[in-house]
Amino acid sequence: MMRRMADGAIPYADDESIGDVVVGTEALQARIAELGAEITRDYAGRAPLLVGVLKGAFLFMADLARQIDLPVEFDFMAVSSYGNATKSSGVVRIVKDLDLDLTGRDVLIVEDIIDSGLTLAYLRKNLLARNPSSVEVCALLVRDGLQKTELDLRYVGFAIPPDFVVGYGLDVAERYRNLPYIASYLG
Ligand code: IMP
Ligand code: MG
Repeated sequence: MMRRMADGAIPYADDESIGDVVVGTEALQARIAELGAEITRDYAGRAPLLVGVLKGAFLFMADLARQIDLPVEFDFMAVSSYGNATKSSGVVRIVKDLDLDLTGRDVLIVEDIIDSGLTLAYLRKNLLARNPSSVEVCALLVRDGLQKTELDLRYVGFAIPPDFVVGYGLDVAERYRNLPYIASYLG
């Protein structure tokens, strides 16, 4: 049965699997505005191609793009490294490839979260092989302790603790992507 949300209510308000807020709505939007301004400055005079990694990055991509004052273009790729489990299988598979040719393009990979870095390492190598002008990464979240320089992350939103998180695009078995903030997942 459909439960109607009261005005001002948020999804999953009564869900006991959702723990503490890790990054709230306002903090997300404020940081995304900063990232957008930085990208606007760095890519001045160019038309970067934002490559969103589905499905987790879809909300971040939408909000970030509206903070970039440049004629950006969009493409999407879907990769699978997790299945429905909450730990990395180490196997990355392309589920949906890009539509556009990357030759000569300034590619900006937009990712939801860098955990082990396996997915990103695979993606970067794969995209670099398609003759782009440049490939950079904008990740909303990275795990605390991950070496930002080793992973070569040009733009990072927030470093977060090791707890599994959901919301703002991030899921557990496809659930919780529409939670409007990042929260820990209690299971
Ligand atoms: P990595 O290959 O270990 O870096 O995993 C990256 C991918 O795993 C992300 O794009 C997410 O889809 C997923 N992932 C990693 N940690 C979390 C989490 O805390 N919540 C939801 N998804 C996660
Ligand atoms: Mg996922």
